[in-house]
Amino acid sequence: MAPRSRPHDELVRAARAARARAYAPYSRFKVGAAVRAGETVHAGCNVENASYGLTVCAERAAVAAAVAAGARRLDAVVVASGTSPPTPPCGACLQTLAEFGGPDLPVVLAGARGARVETTLGALLPSAFGRRFL
Ligand code: THU
Repeated sequence: MAPRSRPHDELVRAARAARARAYAPYSRFKVGAAVRAGETVHAGCNVENASYGLTVCAERAAVAAAVAAGARRLDAVVVASGTSPPTPPCGACLQTLAEFGGPDLPVVLAGARGARVETTLGALLPSAFGRRFL
């Protein structure tokens, strides 16, 4: 019997495929991310640099790809790692996601052996800074 499909399956596949292309020769910690904006999926992976501090996280790479394609509002995010428990976005990435998604934005953490944790941006970053403070 075919395995039952789950919500966000397409996004999880895209994030895992991006993870396989991660450039992480220094940490060897590969991360992929995929965001959905309407019907369109955009993916990114972490891109490290010999000067370490220039490293771009997978989530911010995916957001940059979405914005470059014209997206301004995200509907869901998946972060694919190989860890257990699954890796959440770092603080900088949460803040970047908050620019394009509200507290109800679904954030799915896909980790080792098919594990998935479903949460929201608001749960991970309850007091986001945003334009309303400017
Ligand atoms: N990394 C991400 O891509 N996303 C995160 O949310 C956490 C960390 C990357 C950055 C670096 O290349 C490696 O994982 C180790 O920190």
